[in-house]
Amino acid sequence: MVTTVGTENSAEKLVQNLLHLEHDAIAAYESTIERLDDAEHSAQIETFRQDHLNHVAQLEKFAADLGIEAPSGGDMKQMMTTGKVALADLVGDEAIINAMKTNEDDTVQAYEQASDNTVADGQMRPIFLQALEDERRHRAWMETVTTR
Ligand SMILES: [Fe+2]
Ligand SMILES: [Fe+2]
Repeated sequence: MVTTVGTENSAEKLVQNLLHLEHDAIAAYESTIERLDDAEHSAQIETFRQDHLNHVAQLEKFAADLGIEAPSGGDMKQMMTTGKVALADLVGDEAIINAMKTNEDDTVQAYEQASDNTVADGQMRPIFLQALEDERRHRAWMETVTTR
């Protein structure tokens, strides 16, 4: 799926949609973390979940600065390619991690778009670039597991 998150034409909408996307991503992580067989995989995915919590905290600060309400969950129209419900049906670490990788494609693309978006101010851009780096690192690790 090609995500449009990150292409919004106001900073308010941009921050709101990134928060929806992050909450969807965290829900997907949570629905799979305990179902992974390999404890090392779970531990790794848990560190990635912490990165996402950190992204949420920073986005919430931007929401407060903008004087808007920070969404505390995902959007009705599920933003991830493979959301928590679809993930719950998968069995086996490779299948689960491969599906999660499709979500990292979405978050990578969203932060690429967000960091290029002219509605993002000088405070937001470095934070979006840092998040982009995190999402790329998550995806790279998932690729090493699924192509092993
Ligand atoms: Fe994130
Ligand atoms: Fe991620």
